Amino acid sequence: MRVTVTGAAGLVGRAVVSSFTTTGDDVAGLDRNALDVSDESAVRATVESQSPDVVINCAAWTDVDGCEFDQQRAMRANALGPELLALACRKIGALFITISTDYVFDGEKEGFYTQRDQPNPLSVYAASKLDGERRAQTSWARTIVVRSGYIFGAGGTNFLSTFLDRARRGQHLKVINDSFGTPTYAPHLAAHLHRLAELDLPGIYHIVNAGEGASFAQFAESAFGMTGLEPKLLESVSLDSLSRPAPRPRNSRLRCLLSEAIGLEPMPHWSDAVREFLTATAGASGSQSA
Ligand SMILES: NC(=O)c1ccc[n+]([C@@H]2O[C@H](COP(=O)([O-])OP(=O)(O)OC[C@H]3O[C@@H](n4cnc5c(N)ncnc54)[C@H](OP(=O)(O)O)[C@@H]3O)[C@@H](O)[C@H]2O)c1
Repeated sequence: MRVTVTGAAGLVGRAVVSSFTTTGDDVAGLDRNALDVSDESAVRATVESQSPDVVINCAAWTDVDGCEFDQQRAMRANALGPELLALACRKIGALFITISTDYVFDGEKEGFYTQRDQPNPLSVYAASKLDGERRAQTSWARTIVVRSGYIFGAGGTNFLSTFLDRARRGQHLKVINDSFGTPTYAPHLAAHLHRLAELDLPGIYHIVNAGEGASFAQFAESAFGMTGLEPKLLESVSLDSLSRPAPRPRNSRLRCLLSEAIGLEPMPHWSDAVREFLTATAGASGSQSA
């Protein structure tokens, strides 16, 4: 497959470029300097000149609190961007895959959110992401929306690697114990994106690691337990106690109604994914703590 990946320098973008490169696909990874997804003429020209079979949009403005203060910027990156990419894909007949978020739900539900649940975003970030889903789907029928959540992986500023780095420096850390999501390892997500690209079945998919999900506190405690880091460094706090600008859902655990039906392999349990992540990054973390 000829694949164009936007937001290629981000956490998910890097995993996608790496995964599709490993499977022998012809991958063009474009970071924000190479392609600003909110630049209409650049999007059209880039997609037309590269003429990929599939465009995977991993670009987004993911600063959830920052989005509260700059709605226009959030909408440009997270809503207009997917729309422009979908329109460009339509022009050349390419499949379009765009990543969305568990935060499109309000968290009031008990249990898992599926495609049957109505989104009700609480924050500017979440609203801009939902708008991106809808604009993309309206613009081009051959669109796949992949919602995921609590994504972790090597490098970048994601929750887990940041916490482990700080704990290795002996810092105390506050972890939220009363909001719950489904942790997802970026390389596992990327492998499923590959399968979805092959299947080419438009729709909304919820792609997360298996298990009952976890609070940030449980997620961090599990990783600390596996690495032998001192659990006393973790201080459990409530979501409300942090008084952050953007509201977050208390429960954003996802489950997919479609994955099994279309023959997608079940994802590994999230705690096995954490173990895999720790093994994969063991060399890097050793050198950081030295
Ligand atoms: N991380 C999570 O836990 C999580 C959970 C659910 C869903 N998601 C979704 O997963 C996708 C990937 O997120 P991520 O975790 O990989 O975030 P990330 O590490 O912040 O990566 C996003 C990338 O997009 C780039 N970007 C921002 N605005 C852009 C624009 N206008 N044009 C082109 N590139 C732009 C960013 O560049 P700069 O850094 O230079 O701005 C960054 O490299 C997003 O759709 C996000 O909403 C993430």
